[in-house]
Amino acid sequence: MKVTAVLLAAGQGIRMKSSLPKVLHPICGKPMLWHVLEALKSAATEKPVVVVGHGADEVKKYLGDTADCVLQEPQLGTGHAAMQAEALLKGKTDYVIVTYADMPLLRGETFQRLVETQRLNAGPFSLLTVTADDPHGFGRIVRKADGTVAAIVEEYVATPEQQQIKELNAGAYCFKADWFWDALQRIEKNPRKGEYYLTDIVEIAVKDNLPVQAVLHDDFIETIGINTRIHLSEAEAAMRRRINQEHMLNGVSMMDPASTYIEAGVQIGKDTLVMPNTYLHGSTVIGEGNVIGPNTIIRDSKIGNQCKVLASVLEGAVLEDDVDMGPFARLRKGAHLKSHVHMGNFGEVKDSTLHEGVKMGHFSYIGNANIGANTNIGAGTITCNYDGEKKHATEIGEDVFIGSDTMLVAPLKLGDGARTGAGAVVTKNVPEDTLVVGMPARAIKKLERKPKSK
Ligand code: UD1
Ligand code: CA
Repeated sequence: MKVTAVLLAAGQGIRMKSSLPKVLHPICGKPMLWHVLEALKSAATEKPVVVVGHGADEVKKYLGDTADCVLQEPQLGTGHAAMQAEALLKGKTDYVIVTYADMPLLRGETFQRLVETQRLNAGPFSLLTVTADDPHGFGRIVRKADGTVAAIVEEYVATPEQQQIKELNAGAYCFKADWFWDALQRIEKNPRKGEYYLTDIVEIAVKDNLPVQAVLHDDFIETIGINTRIHLSEAEAAMRRRINQEHMLNGVSMMDPASTYIEAGVQIGKDTLVMPNTYLHGSTVIGEGNVIGPNTIIRDSKIGNQCKVLASVLEGAVLEDDVDMGPFARLRKGAHLKSHVHMGNFGEVKDSTLHEGVKMGHFSYIGNANIGANTNIGAGTITCNYDGEKKHATEIGEDVFIGSDTMLVAPLKLGDGARTGAGAVVTKNVPEDTLVVGMPARAIKKLERKPKSK
């Protein structure tokens, strides 16, 4: 059985007031369109088809080869949009799921239920409905005495009686493919709006005496459609709650889920505690038993087990196990902290590896460096890695002791067991087990102490 999803995404989304196509606006770090396509994966068996129009180039560029795109030009309504998929799909699929790309909260299970219902339906299609106290903006579902659907009445033509109907058209349909393409051709142009409404396809089935089934869904939140940025923020909040709940059910603790921001796709192991005001972005993967936050931002980073990351910012970094960092530490791209590294406040590491047990307590910059195990980096140490044109490497051995405020002028090598005195400016390689010191301060004159004025 072949099931293909057709996603309608050609509308302009005027009410977003944006130069970005509506369906590319992100929700929990991923475009709306991504969420819908993700959900459809569990219900469809074939590559999805996306109907594009406004902002077609940008949308196509985003989709790449994850979907086939068909162009709707001009945009003459949802029925007309669905027709654009016929040339590509006719004779190639058994069922067609049609849904709107501005509904990012619909779940995979919900689409699966819709397809299941249609498989058991002798009639040509099934659709998803939902009940709500405030039906504003939705098409109303009119049912026949036998429970099948008689019509979808769009809000602007609904009689006062129909306006009261609480069962609504959610905007997801599953059609028998053969019937669908022919029926689409029979939809007439709406005389008031000059558009072809997909919803009018109900009447065509009813005229032919074929049953249309409805799947009544019990979660209204899932059917939020995004027309304005207010809806966008509501969907973001709902999706965030959903993501956080999934993590908690998988064994992750959160002190305050409402102030914990985790993007779709981030992985977190069990017994990790995520503290408030923490943002986990992109391809971040976090292991077990960690304490992350509060006040931490992590993007595209990998964290092992039993680490503590307090009030810090990490991007493109790797932490192995038992690393302890922060508060106020920053890891940039290529920072790799091996097990038992301690990194205290106001440090920055970029493109560098700190091997097992390195301690770097306070105020340091380490760039393009490789620092051997159990080395101690004193407060205020700087790798002077940039000469204005090129970056240079600093190689530090094991068990090295770097005194406070040492300037390590790269390219530079320090052998195992070397030591530098406080304030040293090191410009030449230091052999193993050797102490280097800078110029110590010397007395230059005796000062006269002035009496303090009152
Ligand atoms: C639609 C339904 C309504 C349902 C509601 C649920 C119709 C006629 N009405 O109304 O019954 O309750 O969704 O949210 O279908 N699109 C195109 N090409 C077009 C027009 C629209 O691709 O020519 C796309 C839009 O990009 C959008 C989707 O179809 O993603 C829905 O269009 P929209 O205008 O938002 O329909 P609604 O008025 O919300
Ligand atoms: Ca809509």
